[in-house]
Amino acid sequence: KHCFTKSQDGFLYCENLKVQEIMESVERRPFYLYSKPQITRNVEAYKDALEGLRSIIGYAIKANNNLKILEHLRGLGCGAVLVSGNELRLALRAGFDPTRCIFNGNGKLLDDLVLAAQEGVFVNVDSEFDLENIVAAARIAGKKFNVLLRINPDVDPQVHPYVATGNKNSKFGIRNEKLQWFLDAVKAHPNELKLVGAHCHLGSTITKVDIFRDAAVLMVNYIDEIRSQGFEVDYLNIGGGLGIDYYHSGAILPTPRDLIDTVRELVLSRDLNLIIEPGRSLIANTCCLVNRVTGVKTNGTKNFVVIDGSMAELIRPSLYDAYQHIELVSPASPSAEVATFDVGAGLVVHDAGAYCMSMASTYNLKMRPPEYWVEEDGSVSKIRHGETFEDHIRFFEGL
Ligand code: LLP
Repeated sequence: KHCFTKSQDGFLYCENLKVQEIMESVERRPFYLYSKPQITRNVEAYKDALEGLRSIIGYAIKANNNLKILEHLRGLGCGAVLVSGNELRLALRAGFDPTRCIFNGNGKLLDDLVLAAQEGVFVNVDSEFDLENIVAAARIAGKKFNVLLRINPDVDPQVHPYVATGNKNSKFGIRNEKLQWFLDAVKAHPNELKLVGAHCHLGSTITKVDIFRDAAVLMVNYIDEIRSQGFEVDYLNIGGGLGIDYYHSGAILPTPRDLIDTVRELVLSRDLNLIIEPGRSLIANTCCLVNRVTGVKTNGTKNFVVIDGSMAELIRPSLYDAYQHIELVSPASPSAEVATFDVGAGLVVHDAGAYCMSMASTYNLKMRPPEYWVEEDGSVSKIRHGETFEDHIRFFEGL
């Protein structure tokens, strides 16, 4: 079951509500419209898939950092994957258990690492200098860090180069030829570091589970090697990256179950605790950006439908050449052509739950839009205020 459906007579619904009616009842367009029950269903799909394994679902906050959504995900049992001190602060505010949080990144700052150490979150070691900072943070916090080594397994995720991270020339993680150096460095810091596992993240929008399987095979070999040197590592973290059906083409894409099933035996064979870091596959399909058509124009041989939404609210197509499916919220008249398009009609961009609001900007001073969700009982609630011109002016007060 999916939250956004088209009725026989051509109206778009979010759960049991007509999107057109929601559009007419809210104060401003464009806006992001989520389904809370769809978020629940997406988490349940991962939980079902993980049954029988010790695991942590670490939701990647970068995909969507709405506090209400975070609270809901935490309530469903998720942990959180963080890439900044502010994401950590927000996760704590949302009530996440810090011992189910994982701190990632290439250039983690010392202050942020100190906070992470104080709170007891896991940290993924990314480089030699990162390890130095992690050691320093542990000393400042007076706490031992649980660390995982982020290994760059050199597996091609077969995705857009801008979202590929697990091939050998990517800037993320450590290459296998340096593994021994890192193991020795951990051994040299018994008071600061406890090595608890290994991590990899291959990239994003991955649509073949074999890629995860190939990486997991390499990763358990590394874990065998690490264990053979006396480390009691318990965690295998295979990162995030599962893709979704942006094209709405009906193509069969791998599900969370397909992903977990492809690594299950490997995880069980080494008696590991599996960490996954999904962002997109938990949240993207729970939201549409709802726009209104402002007008229609033609230039040369091209027709344009101009809407009130823009790259300020949804930058993925211009940034990554990404495809995101669009759809009208009400039936088009049978004779409709672009030139006679209804001005004021609603037009949604699907799969706007991940990397849309979290990457939105105030470009052109289009202040960030409000967010709403449809609740389980079919009511609509605002879950973030729209930003206003006054918010913008505030940054100049008292200068
Ligand atoms: N873990 C790590 C270490 C990551 O870097 C990421 C995403 C994730 C987990 C979550 O990956 P997901 O399951 O969402 O694919 N801005 C791009 C996506 C960049 C993803 C960066 N890393 C976009 O709009 O498509």
